[in-house]
Amino acid sequence: MHSRRWRLWIFAGVTAVVAAAAYAGVAGRRPPPSIPETASPRATAAQVARLLEKVPESYLQMQVPPAVASDRTAERRAPAQYRLYCASCHGERGDGTGAGGVALNPRPVDFTDPAFRDSPPGAAYYIIAHGSQGTGMAPWRGALSDTDIWALVRYIYREFAGRDVAAAAAGPDPAPDPEGVTAR
Ligand code: HEC
Repeated sequence: MHSRRWRLWIFAGVTAVVAAAAYAGVAGRRPPPSIPETASPRATAAQVARLLEKVPESYLQMQVPPAVASDRTAERRAPAQYRLYCASCHGERGDGTGAGGVALNPRPVDFTDPAFRDSPPGAAYYIIAHGSQGTGMAPWRGALSDTDIWALVRYIYREFAGRDVAAAAAGPDPAPDPEGVTAR
C-alpha cells in the first residue's frame, strides 16, 4: 500500500523535525561555552573592533613614516624583536597562540585574521606604543623606539597578514606621536 508507506514517511519526517526543535530548545538554554576570544574569525573581528574604540582619531590615518619604510636596519631588526618580545603571546606564526597568551582574557590578537589585516596600521601602532589597558598588552613606548615600533607594525602586517602597509606610505613623515600618555 503506497499511501500507507507515505504516511509512515511523513510521520518519520515530522518526528525528526520535532526532535530537532526540542534539542535546539535544550541547547538554547545551555550557557554559552567559554570560547577563547580568538577561537573564531568572528571573535577576532569583534576584538579588533573593540580595540579600535581605544584608538584616538588622530592615529587612524597614520601611515608608516617613509623614513622607517626605507630603514633597512630597522626592517632587519623587526623579526628578531618580534620573536624576542611578542611571539611569547602572539605566537611564532602570529596566530595568537603563544604559550604566554593562551591563558589571557582577552587573548592576544590573531594577526592572520582578515579583521586584523583590514585594520588601520596607525591603530596597531597606537596599541603597541600605548598598550591596551586592563589586558596583557603592555605599552612598549620607551622600551622600544618609535622606529622599531613602526618596523614591527610593518613586519606583523607583511609577515602574518600578507599586507605591505608601507606601500601606502607617501609624502612627508607624520607629526610625532601626539600623545605622551598611556592608553585609556
Ligand atoms: C603578555 C602577552 C603579550 C605580549 C608579550 C605582546 N602582546 Fe600584543 N596583545 C596582547 C593581548 C592580550 C592583546 C589584546 C588586547 C585587547 O584585546 O584589548 C594584544 C594586542 C595587540 C595588538 C592590537 C591589534 C589590533 O587589532 O589593534 C597589536 C598590534 C599587538 N598586540 C602587537 C604586539 C607586539 C608588536 C608585541 C611585541 C612588541 C606584543 N603585541 C606583545 C598580548 C601580548
